[in-house]
Amino acid sequence: MTNVVIEALTKRYGTTTAIDSVSLSIGEGEFVSLLGPSGCGKSTTLRLIAGFETADTGRILFDGEDVAHLPPNRRDIGMVFQSYALFPHMTVAQNLAFGLEMRKMLPAMIRSRVAKVLEMVRLVPEADRYPRALSGGQQQRVALARALVIEPRILLLDEPLANLDAKLRDEMREFITDLQRRVGITTIYVTHDQAEAMAMSDRIVVMFKGEVAQFGAPRDIYERPQGLEIATFIGQANFLQASVTNADGRTMAHTVLGARELLQDAPAEGPVSVLVRPEALTLANADEPGVVSGSIDSIHYSGSLTEYRVRLPGGEMVSVQVVGPGRQERGDAVGLRLAADPLWTIGRAA
Ligand SMILES: Nc1ncnc2c1ncn2[C@@H]1O[C@H](COP(=O)(O)OP(=O)(O)OP(=O)(O)O)[C@@H](O)[C@H]1O
Ligand SMILES: [Mg+2]
Repeated sequence: MTNVVIEALTKRYGTTTAIDSVSLSIGEGEFVSLLGPSGCGKSTTLRLIAGFETADTGRILFDGEDVAHLPPNRRDIGMVFQSYALFPHMTVAQNLAFGLEMRKMLPAMIRSRVAKVLEMVRLVPEADRYPRALSGGQQQRVALARALVIEPRILLLDEPLANLDAKLRDEMREFITDLQRRVGITTIYVTHDQAEAMAMSDRIVVMFKGEVAQFGAPRDIYERPQGLEIATFIGQANFLQASVTNADGRTMAHTVLGARELLQDAPAEGPVSVLVRPEALTLANADEPGVVSGSIDSIHYSGSLTEYRVRLPGGEMVSVQVVGPGRQERGDAVGLRLAADPLWTIGRAA
């Protein structure tokens, strides 16, 4: 297994800085996603690691070895592209064998490797078919198999599920994470789908405008996003205006939902925004003691969850989620209660 260290990597195209001083340290066998909006530099970072592009400055180390002098085919990486890039005139088995033939492996060895990987990705019956005779999901598995058959040190995937429909995408997510765990290969996965990154990764690199905004476990990033932009990009976020007071060694945030202790990032006294995730709020009857009353402004039903947008007395809007279909109608008066500690400060209020 291989660890990947990136030090202050910068890549410019003319006047565009695609990535700007990106540093990352990825552990052996880790599954790390690069997540961020279109154009933030995810593919550029991946292509630099693969060796398809050359950095302007910075270093890339595999197990401590600087790989700058190595062309892509000598970096021992397996890469899967969004477009799959299969060879159309070769069968599935030939697509897989190609990389091994290039490495001058003995034919008997190639046959056994290809057979093993076909089994792994459940494509044994399709071995002699051409790519055009395969479904999107099957083509995707061929691309994955072709990357794995060379037994690379590192697996790089650039939006591999983007062309699949929602159901197949869910299946393939699970398939890829399962396979990755079994093989134990260090994997870097590019996506702009936050749910995908959350579900699959050991850690997530959130990128904005060519820079690393945060690098952490899905839970860290969801619960303690470093800034407004990340908080809104990952999941649903309510921002409540709060005022901060410091007394008796405790820092309290006062929001419309009541006072809470701020456990971290508490600034000096004054106005701040605090982050409250929808599941940290519970709905109650409007006349229950201790609740803040509001009214249901809109309802978004998605089967397993119902999201209510609730208008608070001062005009602030918050999202609340309940499991299942829920019983509220638009315009209903409801009570709201803050169910979970802590609150996280997310920057000064405007
Ligand atoms: N070959 C190139 N020539 C010029 N500019 C480029 C080139 N490749 C990328 N860029 C620019 O660098 C920036 C980062 O591009 P990159 O492809 O890495 O983004 P991305 O995060 O992968 O986006 P997407 O989610 O749309 O694939 C963009 O502004 C892009 O226009
Ligand atoms: Mg890209």
